[in-house]
Amino acid sequence: MRSELEKDFQRFERELPHDFPAHVREAYRIDLTARYLGETIPHPIGKGSGQLSLNQGQLEDDAAAGLAFVVLKTVIAQDDAGAQSMAAWAIHETRMKVERRRTADGRSGWTVTWKGRGWDRSLDEYLAMVRAGRDLTRAGRLLVVPSVKYHLPPLAQAFRDSEYRYTTAQLAAAWREPPLLLEKDFSPTLAGDLLAADRAQVLRWLREVPGRIRAASPVSVRVAVKLMNARFDDAFQLAMMEECRDADALVCFNRLFDERLATAYGGWDLSDRNLRALDLYRLRPPSTALDRALVGTGNICSGRMILEYARRGCDSAQLHTFFQLPLSQYPATHGSRTQRALHALVFHPRDGLVAGMLALEAQGTLERRGGALHFLDVVADARRAG
Ligand SMILES: Cc1cc2nc3c(=O)[nH]c(=O)nc-3n(C[C@H](O)[C@H](O)[C@H](O)COP(=O)(O)O)c2cc1C
Repeated sequence: MRSELEKDFQRFERELPHDFPAHVREAYRIDLTARYLGETIPHPIGKGSGQLSLNQGQLEDDAAAGLAFVVLKTVIAQDDAGAQSMAAWAIHETRMKVERRRTADGRSGWTVTWKGRGWDRSLDEYLAMVRAGRDLTRAGRLLVVPSVKYHLPPLAQAFRDSEYRYTTAQLAAAWREPPLLLEKDFSPTLAGDLLAADRAQVLRWLREVPGRIRAASPVSVRVAVKLMNARFDDAFQLAMMEECRDADALVCFNRLFDERLATAYGGWDLSDRNLRALDLYRLRPPSTALDRALVGTGNICSGRMILEYARRGCDSAQLHTFFQLPLSQYPATHGSRTQRALHALVFHPRDGLVAGMLALEAQGTLERRGGALHFLDVVADARRAG
């Protein structure tokens, strides 16, 4: 199988087969089926919300490449008069820089330096993109999910339910057939903001926000909460996960915030921190039921890293930075960035998903069932072991 993998890796440098999960199933007897927010998807690789899901052209390219899901850029909620209490997040900034970032112990990773925040165009323009995403989803070509930043009040103040109601109703109308799937973003710039300096305040948001979205929605809704990396210790990451009981899924965790440079960042520091916090969650006492789905995000630049998150209970992965690297960094020579990224993530003979699953089998960590290795068995084993 190793030499098959070498051959496939080279063969697919020029063109990745669109239905690569079917090829992986036939050639390696590996089933990559995964899950995102209760939906079954053909493999675990999706795109996180951000600058790479801003328009319909990007969605078309991702559907053509065979990505499993895309989370749209985060829109800032508003009420029916257009008022946005989180307007400070709807700012315009286009300049991005993809650069190296080193950890204190010398490992070099990638980060995107960018001072921007949320969606900076109108809600109507966002809804047009939601409708395009809905059509791709209905056609079975790509699961597309909107992302929202709703009002988050200081502890003593009330939530502005009018913003929750108006924005959620608009999204539900654009989506048409329930359930509505959406992500609620807690961003690194929020983590860096004074608003998030108070632990009790942050925990109240996590306790109340999923229920407020549900109450505001005219149709049934599934909510993934994308948790931030708060400016507190790992134990607080765990406290946030536990407090967010009403979410259907937790996305763990958005980028770190560099207070000195006032910018969000990723790289190895991000995955180290995220995997550490997920370990705490997995190994906590069994009395606290592990029912919410987990989704991994942060420094996922290889199939092996997808498996690191899966081994801590994440049944899919959201990437951003790896879809943005200079073309010279991908081994593939042809295709869109998404195709080139998928080629490396799945077929790299040492670090790809197929190689990683075969390695888990060789170590005796993963067993064949019905003759096949299943990605979701890695996740199920992690949850059982936890
Ligand atoms: C330029 C940029 C913009 C982003 N914008 C958003 C956003 O609007 N909403 C959100 O939930 N996450 C946003 N993210 C976070 C990504 O979706 C992702 O979770 C994070 O970058 C960690 O993954 P990565 O290490 O693969 O980049 C953004 C990330 C980058 C780099």
